[in-house]
Amino acid sequence: MEKFIMALDQGTTSSRALIFDQKGNIRSMAQKEFQQIFPKPGWVEHDPNEIWSSQVAVAAEAMSKIGINGQNLHGIGITNQRETTIVWDRNTGEPINNAIVWQDRRTSSLCDELRAKGFTDTIRQKTGLVIDAYFSGTKVKWILDNVPGAREKANRGELAFGTVDTWLVWKLTRGRTHVTDVSNASRTMLFNINTLTWDKELLELLQIPESILPRVASSSEVYDHTNTTFFATKVPIAGIAGDQQAALFGQMCTSQGMVKNTYGTGCFILMNTGKKPFLSKNNLVTTIAWQVNGDTYYALEGSIFIGGAVVQWLRDGLGIIKSSAEVEELARQVPDNGDLYLVPSFTGMGAPHWDQYARGLMIGISRGTTRAHIARAALESIAFQTMDVLDVMAKDTGINLTELRVDGGASANNLLMQFQSDVLGINVVRPKTIETTAMGAAYLAGLATGYWKNIEEIANLWQLDKTFTPGMPAETLQKMKDKWADAVERAKSWHR
Ligand code: G3P
Repeated sequence: MEKFIMALDQGTTSSRALIFDQKGNIRSMAQKEFQQIFPKPGWVEHDPNEIWSSQVAVAAEAMSKIGINGQNLHGIGITNQRETTIVWDRNTGEPINNAIVWQDRRTSSLCDELRAKGFTDTIRQKTGLVIDAYFSGTKVKWILDNVPGAREKANRGELAFGTVDTWLVWKLTRGRTHVTDVSNASRTMLFNINTLTWDKELLELLQIPESILPRVASSSEVYDHTNTTFFATKVPIAGIAGDQQAALFGQMCTSQGMVKNTYGTGCFILMNTGKKPFLSKNNLVTTIAWQVNGDTYYALEGSIFIGGAVVQWLRDGLGIIKSSAEVEELARQVPDNGDLYLVPSFTGMGAPHWDQYARGLMIGISRGTTRAHIARAALESIAFQTMDVLDVMAKDTGINLTELRVDGGASANNLLMQFQSDVLGINVVRPKTIETTAMGAAYLAGLATGYWKNIEEIANLWQLDKTFTPGMPAETLQKMKDKWADAVERAKSWHR
C-alpha cells in the first residue's frame, strides 16, 4: 500500500491540506477560506472552531480526492500562521475568546508602555524579538485581563494557551496533548531562545501563569497520534513548525547564510544563521528556525506585513483588477512606474522600520498616471520592501548574499521576480514547487517517522524552475531606490 505524508497548513486566510509522496510531489490538495473578523479598527480575529472545522474538512477532502484513508498516512506535519493566540478551557475544550490574529494591533499601547519602562534590551536578549503587538505575549495578557473570569480560571489551572499548531494538536488528540514546537514558541515573546525554556521573568512581567503554557518540543518527533474518530486509525503527528520556518526548511535553506522569501499575504524573509542565536543591530528579529535530531537552528527574520496583500487591495479596495493573476499583465502595459511610488504600510511598518503608526502612501501621481502604473508601483513595493530587509540582513551578518530563494503565491509573478532580482543585484531562484511551507512541514514529519531517511535525501528532492538574473542599468536603479527611500520616510508616523 502506498504511503504518504499529509501537511496541514493553517494560514491566515485559509486552511489547506496537501498530500506528498516520497519524491516530494504534491499528490492532492484541498483549501478552504474562513472568516476574517474585524470587530474594531486595528483588531483582527478568527473563530478557533472555524479554524479547526475548516482544517479537518480539507484534510478529509484532500484524502478523498485521491481515494486514500488514514492507513495510507505515514504521518502528519502541521504548519501554521504564527503568533495568533488562542486560549481555551481545559475541561470543555471551548475557546474563551476568538483567536487574536498576528495582525491585530490592540496591544500597541501596552507595547509602548513596555518600551517606555525600558524592557527593549531584556526582551531582545531573551526572546530575540522587538517589542511589538505582533507577537503572542501581550495578546495572552489582553485575554486574561479582558475576558470576564479568565484570570481566576487561569490561576486555578483551568485554561490552556496555544498558537494555532497547539490548538490543532489538542483537537486532533481530543485534548490529550498540549504541545508546541520551538519555532512557534519563539514567536510568543515569552520563550527564552537561549535556554529553550519559557522565561519566568517575562511571564511575571506580563502576569501570565505558567500553568496555561504548552510543553515545548522539537520540530520533528512523534508528539502523539490522532484520535481514531478522525482518520479511522491512529496517525502519528510528527512535525510542527511555524509557516515561515517551515518554508525555510522546505526550501532546504539548511546551511548558514541561505535565505528565502515567501511572498504570501505578507513577505517573510528568513536567513539561516546556524546553531547560535544571532542578534540584529538593525531591528530584524531572531527566531528559532527548527530543532531536528537535537540540533537547534536559528534564523534572522524580516517580517513585512503587506506583500501579496497589496495586490488584493488593488482587487478589493480599488477594483482595478478582477483577479490577482491579472496584475502582471496590467503592470506590463507600461514600461516603468511613471515615477509613481506606493508604500503599502496599511497596518503599520514591520521590519526594518517597525512603525506601528505608519500608514499607506502613494506619491508621484500626475495626470498621466494610469491604473497600470499603480499596478506596477504595487508590485515594485513588494520588491523594494524585500530589498530594505535584505540590505540590513547583509549589514548585520556581514554575509554577502549571492542568491534569494523564493516561494509563495506571488513568486509565480515573473515581472515581480525579475524586478526583485534587479533591485537586489543578485540571482532570484524559484523552485518547481512553490508550496514550500507545506513541504517543509511534510519533511519534518517524514523525517520523524522514517518516511525519509535524512536531510540529504530530502535535499535531493529540491528542483529548480527558473533563475532570474539582475539586468537593470545602475543609474536608473539608484534613482528608483532613492525615491523609494524618500516615500518610505514620508509614510512614517502618519496615524498619530
Ligand atoms: O507571522 C505571521 C505569518 O506566520 C503568517 O503567514 O502565510 O498565514 O500569512 P501567512
